[in-house]
Amino acid sequence: MRQYLADTAGVHPEREYFLLGALGQDLPGAITVTTETNQAWPNVSRTNPDDVTSTAIEHALRFSLAGVQLKFSAVMSALGGLTIPARGIGGHWIVKLPSRDFRHVPENEFSMMALAKMVGIDVPAIDIVDVDTINNLPEGISHLGSKAFIIERFDRTDEGHSIHTEDFAQVFGVFPQAKYEKASYRNLARVIAAESGDGGIAEFIRRATFNVLIGNGDMHLKNWSLIYRDRQHVELSPAYDFVSTIAYIPEDRSALTFSRGKAFTDYTFDELEHLAAKAALPRKLVMGTAQETVALFMQRWASEKNHLPMDKDVRTAIDKHLKTLPILTA
Ligand SMILES: Nc1ncnc2c1ncn2[C@@H]1O[C@H](COP(=O)(O)OP(=O)(O)OP(=O)(O)O)[C@@H](O)[C@H]1O
Ligand SMILES: [Mg+2]
Repeated sequence: MRQYLADTAGVHPEREYFLLGALGQDLPGAITVTTETNQAWPNVSRTNPDDVTSTAIEHALRFSLAGVQLKFSAVMSALGGLTIPARGIGGHWIVKLPSRDFRHVPENEFSMMALAKMVGIDVPAIDIVDVDTINNLPEGISHLGSKAFIIERFDRTDEGHSIHTEDFAQVFGVFPQAKYEKASYRNLARVIAAESGDGGIAEFIRRATFNVLIGNGDMHLKNWSLIYRDRQHVELSPAYDFVSTIAYIPEDRSALTFSRGKAFTDYTFDELEHLAAKAALPRKLVMGTAQETVALFMQRWASEKNHLPMDKDVRTAIDKHLKTLPILTA
């Protein structure tokens, strides 16, 4: 992703300030980064210094959300079609393209986000679309897979204003490379409880439980965010990036430690009791929400698993995974 962005902007991939200068107008949340003088950077292109043009900058602006899987900020036209805006900034949807490394991730993510919505989790508007129908994508993307997952941005208003968000790596001052370490669900729970009370705790437990049920081993610190809707009060942002990873990585476990353990089989009512005690959360709310989520999930999973667009492998992997979970038998 970095290489791609750097090439598009005509910047050396290790010149981080110049890359930031090129991408800084469309970052997550309400942060923007601009050069002090508002001028183009000096020639730093690896190949041809003359490549550093405003066109190159505009191209680069399209690809600025952090992460490895190619994704773009896109605009939904009045007729329903999606376009990557020519100037790059101002898109209200995120388009997540098929991955080079794993099969049918967009179908998997759409299915998991749809299920999450069905168990009461706060999920933005989502859809699954044909890659072919998206205008302005770079060449050669469509051979990776035919479907893209799209999700409405919760950090932009209809009028195009930015709403500030920060992920938990930012909250804890942890560098992205350490997003799987350094903090546990216990640490997250303490912050959420302090900032947004019982509603926030229930939503947190719902999401934690759901991601254990689907076998999502990638809920690292950057996949949990806070949102400042009125610039003062803080709550959990809507959910994003729910993918069943056990279908690709059978031995996967939770990205973050729950209270003591990391294996999906460690997520028990005893573990939740421990988490509630250590993070000073209301015990009844935690246990009740987890129980409710498990019950609702099992209902929805049974009725929807054959209708959602996930691969058969994903469905089979989740069915097999569910049989191993102690949280189901308590
Ligand atoms: N609907 C949304 N609205 C606003 N910001 C979002 C939304 N979805 C994702 N983001 C932001 O974009 C970043 C990347 O998105 P996402 O986590 O879905 O991509 P990813 O490539 O799967 O990430 P990862 O690096 O975890 O694999 C998120 O960390 C978050 O900051
Ligand atoms: Mg992510």
